[in-house]
Amino acid sequence: MISHRRLLAGLTSVLPLLFSPLVSAADTHSYAEPGKVLVTALDLDLNVAMDKHVLSGHADLSLDWKDKSAHELVLDTRDLSIEQVDLLDAKNKASSLEFELSAADPILGSALHIAMPKQGAKVRITYHTSPNASGLQWLDALQTAGKKHPFLFSQSEAIHARSWVPLQDSPAVRFTYTAHIRTPKELRAAMSADNDINHALDGDFKFSMPQRIPSYLMALSVGDMAVEATGPRSAIFADPGVVKAAVTEFSDTEKMIATAEKLFGAYRWGRYDILVLPPSFPFGGMENPRLTFATPTVLAGDKSLVSLVAHELAHSWSGNLVTNASWDHIWLNEGFTTYVQGRIVEAIYGRDQDLMEFQLSTDALRRSFADDPKLDQHLVPDLKGLDPDDGLSDVPYTKGDWFLRFLEARFGREVFDPFIRGYFDHFAFQSITTPQFVDYLKANLLDKNPGKVSMDEVNEWLQGVGIPKTAPDLQAPRFKIVAANRDKWLAGTLDAKALNGKKYSTQEWEYFLDSLPPKLTLAQMQQLDAAYDLTHTGNAPIGFRWYLHAVRSNYTAAYTAMQAHMIRIGRRILIVPLYVELAKTPDGLALARKIYAEAKPGYHPLTRASVEKALSDTKR
Ligand code: BES
Ligand code: ZN
Repeated sequence: MISHRRLLAGLTSVLPLLFSPLVSAADTHSYAEPGKVLVTALDLDLNVAMDKHVLSGHADLSLDWKDKSAHELVLDTRDLSIEQVDLLDAKNKASSLEFELSAADPILGSALHIAMPKQGAKVRITYHTSPNASGLQWLDALQTAGKKHPFLFSQSEAIHARSWVPLQDSPAVRFTYTAHIRTPKELRAAMSADNDINHALDGDFKFSMPQRIPSYLMALSVGDMAVEATGPRSAIFADPGVVKAAVTEFSDTEKMIATAEKLFGAYRWGRYDILVLPPSFPFGGMENPRLTFATPTVLAGDKSLVSLVAHELAHSWSGNLVTNASWDHIWLNEGFTTYVQGRIVEAIYGRDQDLMEFQLSTDALRRSFADDPKLDQHLVPDLKGLDPDDGLSDVPYTKGDWFLRFLEARFGREVFDPFIRGYFDHFAFQSITTPQFVDYLKANLLDKNPGKVSMDEVNEWLQGVGIPKTAPDLQAPRFKIVAANRDKWLAGTLDAKALNGKKYSTQEWEYFLDSLPPKLTLAQMQQLDAAYDLTHTGNAPIGFRWYLHAVRSNYTAAYTAMQAHMIRIGRRILIVPLYVELAKTPDGLALARKIYAEAKPGYHPLTRASVEKALSDTKR
């Protein structure tokens, strides 16, 4: 291997970046230089060693040279062992290339510099992953529902694809891919690609994703999965013991696809399947194209949490079709998606359901603006130098959704719906930034419908802090009834049983628990528990909120169940706030440390990082 400095000295006369029209803004979270040379296709060939926790094989990258004087390909990697880099000629004959892996940056990983004296069309990188790859979780058999077979899943968003594939890990770069995945014979492989639901278990899986996608949508899972249809173009992949419950819970999937198509144009990805992961999955869901990854904690038994499917499905338009060009602009993915999610929920489950979910989000945003002085309230933050995982908050989701609901209210759906649909068509398969959205908004909505919304009003949303004064005040009527009863119960004039909680939906419980005073008396906690046994609820978001009260009110009767919740579940938003709350007192911190020691082996690398931050951040 040659030294990095020597390699660069031999290569560079530094030229200004010539951005292709595809690449419209700098992405500070990637070392890649897509303005010089663009990766247009990836062919992966990987062996999956479930026992060693290693992926090994090669990645072939097809290159489109934009800058005729460039002689270097720079890729993103993290903890990858690069064995060899070859130039492939038209007949796939290999000749070796010199390369250098730069020192690892804690957030960005290591740039892989490949010297290409001749601007070749294809390179092959032979490599293997680290057992600690940040984008992979390897589970032992005992950590799965079936307990018989090990399990693997990836989570690439935001910048973790680079920990399992060397590539230009920027959402501004889009490419097609194929993959050849070898697994142990008894297991199934599934990817964000064309999954064959009838594929034989022969240890040999081939995939193709013919539409251009950004790297954060690269996804792979391997394990014991049963497959069962929920509709003509949708199925559930899940542990054989979980699949039936998931099929029942998600039986409205086809209705959701059809609803979204009617509103916003054809679903362009062929099938829409859902993989229900083990409970350690660190997120609620991930919109991997053609195969959403989902937490089992939404299997409430009553469809009350299926807006998660509406959300991940909505990304098939906002995110996967029209993509944020860098993580600063993530509201273009998440804000639009939350808006579309709401429209799907309203169409299928009614306006009350949508309003309840929206109010839960806006109430939470108001609370975090009031309580968290460190939170960046801008819709488009500057994440330079920050880990995009840490920069993630409710703001792009809820403020983004709220902004679009504001536009909808001002222009009316008869104008706004065709505008959104036109936006998805206009920018389909492109990665864009907020200024590009604003130009489109101005030309196609504001200027064509004068007098409805001013640019000053738009800019208050896009550039201001806090909640803009033009934010529509959308309240859920059903919460008013819950609030009235809650106040009577708190005043001691209504018995806990008379709250009528047995009839509450998940969202009414969430509202009730979110809106109680931070500290309740022991007697109040006991009354609620006696009436509704919240300590042993099977509903994870309700349990999470109850356990927060248990910690704040020192209601130790709930601690055994809370501990089981924190060990079983790895979904960050349902456990990290409990660690934060526990860490506020010395006894609580000791308990948190004890729980974490037991839970850690089952947690995803991202969950571990968040919990460790929560346990070290404490100032007492
Ligand atoms: N794409 C996100 C998950 C994500 C965002 C992962 C940023 C990494 C970085 C996904 O679509 C999402 O928003 N999931 C939510 C669920 C949703 C119903 C709000 C989640 O996991 O909480
Ligand atoms: Zn999302």
